[in-house]
Amino acid sequence: MKTFSRLMIVASAFAATMAFAEGEAADPTVKARQDLMKTVGANTKILGEMAGDKAPFDAAAAEAAKAALVAASAEIAAKFEPQATDPATEAKPEIWTNWDDFVAKAGALNSAAQALDATSLDGVKAGMAGVGGACKACHTAYRI
Ligand code: HEC
Repeated sequence: MKTFSRLMIVASAFAATMAFAEGEAADPTVKARQDLMKTVGANTKILGEMAGDKAPFDAAAAEAAKAALVAASAEIAAKFEPQATDPATEAKPEIWTNWDDFVAKAGALNSAAQALDATSLDGVKAGMAGVGGACKACHTAYRI
């Protein structure tokens, strides 16, 4: 029994290391763009939870998340322009061969975020369709 539980501890520690190795890039350029996407993800989650009735509507929090999303999406092109790579990246090389399309998809997210009306729950619900569509369009084409 003792040996078994010790094995379990070793196994779960190993699993945790693997998860870390997969997610964290060592290359600073790759890490910076992944951090930007984490910011995009965190703010989309705030709006998504309100839209999905998983969190109560809060106009100030919705407005702050929208502003953060507008600002972060405006930085996508600059953060992705240097073609850095890393074992932990999920970026497809097609980003840099289809650069104009990639930039257009980043612009589409920026427009969708700007168009979202954060002053009402209905506005957030309606706006999240466009925002979610913009994430999906780019991830389908350019994320592994
Ligand atoms: C213009 C393209 C583009 C748009 C638009 C876009 N993404 Fe991404 N996203 C990417 C790429 C490419 C990666 C992989 C980056 C890497 O690993 O180097 C990524 C990675 C991510 C990650 C993982 C970050 C990490 O921990 O490594 C999250 C979370 C994410 N995106 C959320 C979103 C959400 C939410 C939206 C929409 C609100 C969105 N993205 C819109 C291109 C985009």
